[in-house]
Amino acid sequence: MTEPDIKKGLAGVVVDTTAISKVNPETNSLLYRGYPVQELAATQPFEAVAYLLWHGELPDAAQLAALRATEREHRALSENVRAAIDLVPLEAHPMDEVRTAVSLIGASDPHAGGSVLDAGGSPEQNLERAIRLFAALPAIVAYGQRRRRGEQPIEPRDDLDYSANFLWMTFGEDPDPVVVDAFNRSMILYAEHSFNASTFTARVITSTLSDLYSAVVGAIGALKGPLHGGANEAVLHIFDEIGEASNVVPWLDEALAEKRKIMGFGHRVYKSGDSRVPTMKAALDTLVAHYDKPEVAELYDALESEFVARKGIYPNLDYPSGPAYNLIGFDTLTFTPLFVAARVTGWTAHVIEQAGANALIRPLSFYDGPDERHVES
Ligand code: CMC
Repeated sequence: MTEPDIKKGLAGVVVDTTAISKVNPETNSLLYRGYPVQELAATQPFEAVAYLLWHGELPDAAQLAALRATEREHRALSENVRAAIDLVPLEAHPMDEVRTAVSLIGASDPHAGGSVLDAGGSPEQNLERAIRLFAALPAIVAYGQRRRRGEQPIEPRDDLDYSANFLWMTFGEDPDPVVVDAFNRSMILYAEHSFNASTFTARVITSTLSDLYSAVVGAIGALKGPLHGGANEAVLHIFDEIGEASNVVPWLDEALAEKRKIMGFGHRVYKSGDSRVPTMKAALDTLVAHYDKPEVAELYDALESEFVARKGIYPNLDYPSGPAYNLIGFDTLTFTPLFVAARVTGWTAHVIEQAGANALIRPLSFYDGPDERHVES
């Protein structure tokens, strides 16, 4: 049998329809339910974008207030979840902590038990589960960072919206509105991106009629890798290695001679620039001005212009978001968990969409191992 035309990494393969987001590499545009992402980032709170991804429309004032009330109800971590996080060794990567916490929240859902035949849940149950995870993830991420720093956990505050409360629980200070705005924008930009590796993982798991929590746990595993979500953390490791803008050229000479991938650059879909970068770069610029750290922007610009000039490969969202999170004060290891907190909205919207028009995802492979043979007796 001749080898079929295999699309390694499913590159260029359209596997299903979706009404959640549209990526157009020709125009460098990304639409969530029809709205340009940069417009949403400039005008909406993250809760409204979560609602949009789940329901297909932006909420009116009453719908937004209702979502915010439910989100506030589920913010605090149970003792059991805290205890589960505490069991994760401090040396483990925080993504393992987040994965473990989500897994325990799933196992503790009173409606998720019983027969595997009921595992998938109804659309209403899945929406409730999605909101529960959306609400709990900031506390999980904040708890993890504080635990690693040897700091006491901070309880959520009912008078703060999602983004401000996230920063409050992490740092224990009233967040500056400039910082809240930049952080809110980053959450919106990270929320959804069609059939990326982690979202596809969530859809594969959902397609077996497994439950939403299992889909999110699997997606977290996929996101951890440096070719996907782990890149925002990896960008900071690169910045630390380079140190300052004047070191970019010799550093890049060496890195390219060693055939290293430069983290935060390149994209499977966008080949002439990631549509989310200008908005996140503008948010980074406001943070650079706010914290008076021009050297961060100098290093950012120097590496970008040198790498683009040499390779013609453009930055992706992780390139500006890594230094932005660093300026806000997040530990480098916390960056990919922040991506989880944002992307859980997109993942769960896809779980609901997949479950609503399901077909088991089960592709074929071309066997190129040994011909049939037999055990010698
Ligand atoms: N640094 C150096 N070379 C690169 C890079 C990079 N960041 N990205 C692509 N290339 C080169 C690659 O070496 C290859 O060269 P050649 O044809 O000579 O072998 C060519 O460009 C094509 O690269 P590829 O890896 O085959 O392309 P892909 O579409 O499979 O990869 C990617 C996309 C994101 C995996 C890749 O660009 C990469 O590894 N980037 C660094 C990691 C990163 O920033 N990931 C975040 C992705 S965006 C956010 C997200 O989705 O999570």
